[in-house]
Amino acid sequence: MLKRTVNCGELRSEHEGQEVVLNGWVQSYRDHGGVVFIDLRDRYGLTQVVFDPSGDAAMHHLARALRTEWVIGVKGKVRHRAEGMENPKMVTGTIEVEALQLEVFNKALTPPFEIDSTEPVNEELRLRYRYIDLRCKYMQRIMDVRNKATNIIRQHHQDHGFYEIETPILGKSTPEGARDFLVPSRLAAGSFYALPQSPQLFKQMLMVGGMDRYLQIVKCFRDEDARADRQVEFTQVDVEMSFIEMDDIISVTEEGFAKVWKGVLGVDIPLPIPRMSYADAIRDYGIDRPDMRFEMLLKDVTDIAGASDFKVFTSVAKSPNGMVKGLCAPGAGTYSRSDIEKGLTDFVGGYGAKGLAWFKVTKAEDSDQAQLTSSIAKFFSDEQKAELIERFGANIGDLILMVASDADTVNKSLAALRCKLGSDLGLAKQDDWRFVWVVDFPMVEFNTDENRWDSLHHPFTAPVPEDIPLLDSDPGKVRSLAYDIVLNGNEMGGGSVRIHQPELQAKVFDILGITKEMAQERFGFFVKALSYGAPPHGGIAWGLDRCVMMLCGIDNIRDAIAFPKTQRGQCLLTEAPNVVDESQLEELHIEIRREGPED
Ligand code: AMO
Repeated sequence: MLKRTVNCGELRSEHEGQEVVLNGWVQSYRDHGGVVFIDLRDRYGLTQVVFDPSGDAAMHHLARALRTEWVIGVKGKVRHRAEGMENPKMVTGTIEVEALQLEVFNKALTPPFEIDSTEPVNEELRLRYRYIDLRCKYMQRIMDVRNKATNIIRQHHQDHGFYEIETPILGKSTPEGARDFLVPSRLAAGSFYALPQSPQLFKQMLMVGGMDRYLQIVKCFRDEDARADRQVEFTQVDVEMSFIEMDDIISVTEEGFAKVWKGVLGVDIPLPIPRMSYADAIRDYGIDRPDMRFEMLLKDVTDIAGASDFKVFTSVAKSPNGMVKGLCAPGAGTYSRSDIEKGLTDFVGGYGAKGLAWFKVTKAEDSDQAQLTSSIAKFFSDEQKAELIERFGANIGDLILMVASDADTVNKSLAALRCKLGSDLGLAKQDDWRFVWVVDFPMVEFNTDENRWDSLHHPFTAPVPEDIPLLDSDPGKVRSLAYDIVLNGNEMGGGSVRIHQPELQAKVFDILGITKEMAQERFGFFVKALSYGAPPHGGIAWGLDRCVMMLCGIDNIRDAIAFPKTQRGQCLLTEAPNVVDESQLEELHIEIRREGPED
């Protein structure tokens, strides 16, 4: 085999005269009156190779047969390109390799799409032929970033004394709130393993086992609908520490994020990362993952709206959980009625808002003062309009938008609208990195459908110590020692200080409606572990795929993963999931219940 001595991205003018061997794929092929030029590609770059007709005849014959994506080895001599033929766009653009020997390692079928095509390639095709897609610069860069980030994360945790420890994939269901993927057991008929939604309980038991500091870059599985930032199978940077308080985990984690941003992008993230309470995040941003790159804060105007003559507002303001809230979009006063109705009202409708009230902030005819113009302006007194202008800090040329509904719908729809406007108005810059910690989450939230309390994070999250007395009287008021790290509106990671005393854990299960029997059946092994000397401990998990998305500026999680699944949880390359043989099912004691039109 003609084995490479250099890669396709490293030759420069200073290598002129050297004899080298290159290996790679034929990216492009040109025959100029018998002189064959190819661009040879590998992970490191492109190098031009020239086959001169005056050279070896057999080699030249073979060179003329080369086609794109054939895999070859070439021995040749580095020479400066002829005057005027340099290509400043290529890092190897001043040189070329004059071929002396050629070996074809493999031919290739014509690829289903061009590598590094300037035209967008259909994603389904890319995923079916992922091994070809991975040859494109776009995917190679992402894999490079992913590799760099992973190395930095590993090194950072090693430097802080973390052990890398693997936890089982075949396990028992862990309650992270999603549906489990189940694996049938052959040896225990009718029993199933669950794939881990996270290694939560194992990492806590590692702390009971005295491992002190644990790290795992680990696959997690959640059978939920995939989205732009969610996969059924994804990777966490999973961390747990003993004898610590919340600030210790936050400080190790933010230092890690800062190192990744510095190492991959050369960007300095100022530390410490600011913190915001959950209550403030919901009040000002309507969501627990605020995008801090721009202001446009939400303002509660229930008091002003409720005192107006506008019936929609007054009736909502009177209802028990009713709220009127809005935002002021700077410079959006130029939006037309149809821009607002088709572009924005319909948009918030997707989040359950029944309407979107608006005011344009215009200049009064007789003064330089701001005034509000809208079809609903007549329902507001001059004082109320002045109060609205003041509350929103509105200026001439702005657009005020308001939603009236229950608090949850108001916050959800305005949070989404704020992000949309931030992007439409060019306020959210891609290279502006605004990390924030969201803290002081409520420990539980009421699930009205099932009439019980649910954990906001998971049932192992410790309450804020001074709120413990409220556990019996007013669980909804208890804050937890949980924290999420948020970047530009994306949840990059989340964790908590854990409950380490079995009595407190039992109490929290009780509040969550998990009976003693259920707790025993599902987590008995874990509660038992807490009874054998569990240290105070806590941890966090980063979403690695989401970090890669942010670092690469991509908005689709599939591109951050070498072999991702589609929205429907399929791998188009291998065609998983697939139907299996009857005999396999029999061994697993499984009978498929076929329902529907086929039967
Ligand atoms: P959590 O469920 O918040 O916490 O997950 C931690 C982080 O993992 C990422 N993430 C996902 N990324 C892609 N696809 C998904 N389906 C997906 N789900 C979550 C997010 C999220 O912030 N055991 C706890 C951690 C702990 O308490 O230590 C846990 O799993 O970026």
